[in-house]
Amino acid sequence: MTKRLLIAIDGPASSGKGTLARRLAEHYLLPHLDTGMLYRAVAFSLLERGDSLDDVAAATKAAHLLGLENLPADELRKAPLGEAASVVAVYPEVREALLDVQRKFARHPHGAVIDGRDIGTVICPDADVKLFVTASAEVRARRRFEQRRANGLDDSYEKVLADIRKRDERDSSRSDAPLKQAEDALLLDTSNLGIDDAFRAALDMVEAARGSVKSHPSLKA
Ligand code: CDP
Repeated sequence: MTKRLLIAIDGPASSGKGTLARRLAEHYLLPHLDTGMLYRAVAFSLLERGDSLDDVAAATKAAHLLGLENLPADELRKAPLGEAASVVAVYPEVREALLDVQRKFARHPHGAVIDGRDIGTVICPDADVKLFVTASAEVRARRRFEQRRANGLDDSYEKVLADIRKRDERDSSRSDAPLKQAEDALLLDTSNLGIDDAFRAALDMVEAARGSVKSHPSLKA
């Protein structure tokens, strides 16, 4: 019987954390939760109803009503929602309302791979392995620019870079659960790595960390 494995992955926009999380989950046959989708769903719900992103009460209500089932994934992945999500993600009430659903997911009997901004620091401080995935703002902007161009959008590279910097600033400077590397997280800089090399590096890190992993508290008895 393999040991339960909980992997927390954090990092800024376009660092590659989502793809790495997905591939690690496939590799270890674990469920994967992209927590950015929750914040995107809250923003989506406000915008759909014509509520303002500044309406903390409406955002909190939307967060309380949110479940993991039936999230409109394709709709939520659209570019402007990333920015809108980072606005509602500042509200402590919204973050609090989304705690349970994330922690419940983390209690899956086999473990899980969860990615976001505060997974290693706030949501799963006891994760077996924590990765902090990053890359320079220029490299991340280049990736996002190429992605958008492939999707037929014609934002300039300069605009994409400015958006990335603005989001980094908002995510890192908020007082509640800011984006930051947990003290015990392993740093993976993907600036000079393609996705396959980044995946191999992440896998090596997880395996090395697992070798020295403390058992999960629930397995100690
Ligand atoms: O895909 P991308 O990195 O652009 O964004 P995302 O992971 O979908 O997250 C969108 C926004 O949600 C982030 O900029 C954060 O402000 C917020 N977020 C958060 O605060 N905490 C998380 N655990 C996940 C996302």
